[in-house]
Parts: sequence; structure tokens; C-alpha cells
Amino acid sequence: MAATLIARAIRARPEAVIGLATGSTPTRCYGELVRLHREEGLSFAGVRTFNLDEYLGLPGDHGQGYRRFMQEQLFERIDIRPWNTHVLDGMARDTGAECAAFEHRIAAVGGVDLWLLGIGANGHIAFNEPGSAADSRTRVVDLSAETIAANSDGRFFKDPAEVPRQALTAGIATIRAARRIVLLATGAGKRAALRTAVEGPSTESCPASLLQGHPDCLFLADREAWGA
Ligand code: F6R
Repeated sequence: MAATLIARAIRARPEAVIGLATGSTPTRCYGELVRLHREEGLSFAGVRTFNLDEYLGLPGDHGQGYRRFMQEQLFERIDIRPWNTHVLDGMARDTGAECAAFEHRIAAVGGVDLWLLGIGANGHIAFNEPGSAADSRTRVVDLSAETIAANSDGRFFKDPAEVPRQALTAGIATIRAARRIVLLATGAGKRAALRTAVEGPSTESCPASLLQGHPDCLFLADREAWGA
């Protein structure tokens, strides 16, 4: 369904600006976008993309770097123009300038039409950990112990010691500025965070709950994540 919504946005506006996430959750969506490209003529030739985040200190071609993840999962398998894909540079010497340039590029293309998100078991969106301010913008953040553990469970890093302690991330306000938000949640491990985000108060202790009140925000969850 997420891929269908993205495809619809691109067919409605071939120069669509799409925000993307990494992690386990969106991989099937990217597989379906590749299929739509190969079998149903969906073209990404005019599409611009912005990714949520990147580990600080990892070169883009590092095995766990998010630039490489996107190249392998999606970009190299579709007809997107490389210069239209924007992933924060984890090796930037001047991280402040890198974050400001990211915000500037989003503004320069008129904002994000649809931003695809995942959700952390602690309620984080992008690398906005609990406590992130609702008005936060792209910046350097410290990763929580929970996120370091989640990302070294063997899916990505093998050992917590290998996981960078900091990352560059789009802020809550950066994400909220997207005209449409589609958040994906799969598996029972996301159930508590999802419930809190949807049914709890809008609070910085659950960053995904700060999406409440957005005019066009859709949460797509499987049965395990929703608990129904
Ligand atoms: C990834 C990102 C993260 C993930 C979240 C869930 O770009 O910003 O917020 O969406 O950690 O990760 P998975 O999908 O691996 O469970």
C-alpha cells in the first residue's frame, strides 16, 4: 500500500519530492517500487528524494551506511538521477553546514510531498529519540542505548561497539513539514510505541506522537504491530 501511495504521488507529479527511510521495515515497499518501475513503467526520472538520517562517521559506501542501503535497495534498481537523491553525509567535516544545506535543499525544491517513515520500539522517528523537541530541525543527535541495541541485533551491525554513537537526522519539524506522511510499522516489537503514538498524548517522550495533528498523516501497521 505504501508503494502504491508513492507511485500515485509520482504519477500525479513526475517531479515529486519523496522522503525516504532506511531500516528493515521499508524494504518490501522498495522492492515493490522496483517492480512497478520494471513491470509497470513507473519512472523516477524526475523524482527528487531526501533520506531521514545517516550515521555520523560512516562513509557513504560503508556496509551499514544509509547511502549504500538506499543505493542497493532502490536507487541502483530504478531510473532515478543520482544527483536527485539526497542522503546526509556522515563524513561531513562541518556537520552544521551539512544539516543546514539539507534543509535548504528541501526548501529549494518546494518541500516534501510524501515522507515515508518507520518507527523505533522507543517511539523514535528518524533518529529523533525520546526528548526530541517538536520544533527540531536537521541536526546531530546522540543515539539512545535502546537504538544502538536494536541496530546491533544482527540485522545491521553485529556488535553494539560497532554502532556509531551519533547520527545526522532530519528533525521533527522537518518531517512534519511534509505535505503527507506515511508511517510503516510491522511486528509486535513496535506495538507499544505505535499505541502510545496514536492513542497517547502528543509528547516529546514519544516522538512519533508529535505527528498527531498533522493534516495528512497515515499510519500503516500489520496485525502484529497493531495487536488486533
Ligand atoms: C531509518 C530511521 C529509523 C527507523 C526505525 C525503525 O531511516 O529513521 O527511525 O525507521 O528505527 O527501524 P526498522 O525498520 O529497522 O525497525
